[in-house]
Amino acid sequence: MMDWTDRHCRYLHRLMSRHALLYTEMVTAPALVRGGALHLLDHHPAEHPVALQLGGSDPAELAQAARLGAQAGYHEINLNVGCPSDRVQSGTFGAVLMKQPALVAECVAAMHAAVDVEVTVKCRIGVDDQNPEEVLPEFLSRVGAAGCGRFIIHARKAWLQGLSPKENREIPPLDHDLVLKMRGMFGGLHISINGGITNLDQALAFLDAGLDGVMVGRAAYHQPADILCRADRLIWGQGQDSDPVEVVMQMGDYITDHIAQGGRLHQVTRHMLGLFAGTPGARQWRRILSEGASREGADFALVRQALDAVLEARAQAVA
Ligand SMILES: Cc1cc2nc3c(=O)[nH]c(=O)nc-3n(C[C@H](O)[C@H](O)[C@H](O)COP(=O)(O)O)c2cc1C
Repeated sequence: MMDWTDRHCRYLHRLMSRHALLYTEMVTAPALVRGGALHLLDHHPAEHPVALQLGGSDPAELAQAARLGAQAGYHEINLNVGCPSDRVQSGTFGAVLMKQPALVAECVAAMHAAVDVEVTVKCRIGVDDQNPEEVLPEFLSRVGAAGCGRFIIHARKAWLQGLSPKENREIPPLDHDLVLKMRGMFGGLHISINGGITNLDQALAFLDAGLDGVMVGRAAYHQPADILCRADRLIWGQGQDSDPVEVVMQMGDYITDHIAQGGRLHQVTRHMLGLFAGTPGARQWRRILSEGASREGADFALVRQALDAVLEARAQAVA
């Protein structure tokens, strides 16, 4: 998720779930191919399995970007056909491509031919005045025929005029039933649903209803303990829930290395603020980290201090 997630966030999330597939935020093909911004591909081996999401609409450029991503070790290359931001529309990529399924098919074919790893697409159900019942099946069938076997469908339209990107994740109504209908129509495709899923019970209900996967965005970021710490046991039936306290301790070496390399504490801890959401001590945890992590010289000792405050609040809550 652009401006929210990054490699530090994925390292943290991987400590919570061994099995969840993680995605990068969108990286544009022009930035990689024309801008040479290869640092955007940097990641830690422990993040795997991790998919690189690309934005673009030029088949040759996307093929080259996919090649760079595969060489960098990404497990999957995903094409963004869902982002509604103005910046992205101006470059003719993201959700506006829902209007050009033939071009998306060309892009996917070029990417598919360029790499051995899987090429997937994240899309909307339509944009603007399109009729999703008509355009979505056509999109899936054309892009599927071009070599994409797996789609993640954000189950709402993007309205490209007049809404901010944030509003475009909230205002166009969700149509989960249409995604379920696509599951029924396209037996050969792997279809994951996305949009408005806030807990694992909902995720399990979609899997029970026949969907192949569930992508969770905002809830996984804001309440990682509810989603990621429980996912391996509840979704994959493997292992036990991970414990947020242990996850914090496991971040110690990573944070110390990051700071030794010139990084700052808040760059990592900003992703950890929601770790204790809804439990005793959550407020103290957020406050200590928000106030202290940007200060010069702040290190893992501050995280220990915040954790002690959580443990103390827990002890008081049971007393
Ligand atoms: C801050 C932010 C940035 C996002 N950036 C991306 C992105 O880079 N690529 C993408 O496919 N979706 C992006 N999204 C959309 C989410 O992946 C997801 O489709 C959307 O939030 C709906 O799912 P949710 O209700 O589970 O959050 C972003 C969402 C947010 C909140």
